[in-house]
Amino acid sequence: MTVMSVSIGGLTLANPVMPASGTFAEGLADVVDLNRLGALVTKTITRELRAGNPLPRVAEVAAGMLNAIGIPSKGVPYFLSRTLPLYRRWAPPLVVSISAPTAEGFASLAAEVSVPGVAAIEANISCPNIEEDGRAFAMRAESAAAVMRQLRRATDLPLWAKLTPNTGEIAEVARACEAEGADALVVANTILAMSIDLRTFRPSLGNVMGGLSGPAVKPIVLRQVYQCARAVRVPIIGCGGIATAEDAAEYMLAGASAVQVGTATFVQPNAMTEVIEGLDRFCAARGISHVAQLTGALKENVVLEAVS
Ligand SMILES: Cc1cc2nc3c(=O)[nH]c(=O)nc-3n(C[C@H](O)[C@H](O)[C@H](O)COP(=O)(O)O)c2cc1C
Repeated sequence: MTVMSVSIGGLTLANPVMPASGTFAEGLADVVDLNRLGALVTKTITRELRAGNPLPRVAEVAAGMLNAIGIPSKGVPYFLSRTLPLYRRWAPPLVVSISAPTAEGFASLAAEVSVPGVAAIEANISCPNIEEDGRAFAMRAESAAAVMRQLRRATDLPLWAKLTPNTGEIAEVARACEAEGADALVVANTILAMSIDLRTFRPSLGNVMGGLSGPAVKPIVLRQVYQCARAVRVPIIGCGGIATAEDAAEYMLAGASAVQVGTATFVQPNAMTEVIEGLDRFCAARGISHVAQLTGALKENVVLEAVS
């Protein structure tokens, strides 16, 4: 049996597999034993009530899906009084994903949810930022640094920054988050995309554009995990198109210490537990005693001379 525990910025997880924010809720307990997961990650919450985006909010595309949910939220009081108590019945650490339109908003929300029962905060800085013309904080190193600086002062809990794959400077953003005190990085959120319904000539999504997730994004996000892992020392949690243990192993070899599974759970509700069991088998078959040994174990290419 492989030792499956991993250490993520001050937290020890029983195994490296957890849900991706927004693709998981407590209802999954009807079909999966949530105590088997490395951590539980909530849907992103905001301070205020939010209605979310117009319908349709999801659309299927080749090798993945688009979503433009728009972070509907019942607000912090509801989260603290109704949602949080529900999670007390499960053992894995609870990670609360938060979002706000400003750096100050992020900081005050982080302080409000830094309560017993919350093990870590995942800052969804991949959401639109009203101070920067609607762009996500994580698009640029400066705006990512500004929000992480305020967040770091607002909470003593382990702080994870969730990055966007839509930036052309992900290594710089990763470095900025680490420099401002992020304990781990989640790489990454969805890739901005769209599709058109040819029956109606209308965009498939009510919001026109949305985020692409699922197998289609895996090679892109894997590359970004590799780039981030070379840029920072804090642990990286890989997220994008992971459906099997082999996908998770690739992410760990590229430098991830843990992984999040999102879209795959919609296809196969027990995808996460399958990934855990498969990772155990993957390591055992290769004589790897501790799953953490996979992290960054990618071998450099041997340069082959072309023979003419
Ligand atoms: C329906 C849906 C809702 C999502 N909601 C959130 C969210 O609230 N907060 C967040 O940070 N990411 C959210 N995401 C992004 C996922 O957490 C994840 O980063 C992305 O889907 C890539 O992983 P995957 O390919 O395994 O799905 C959502 C994704 C989907 C498909």
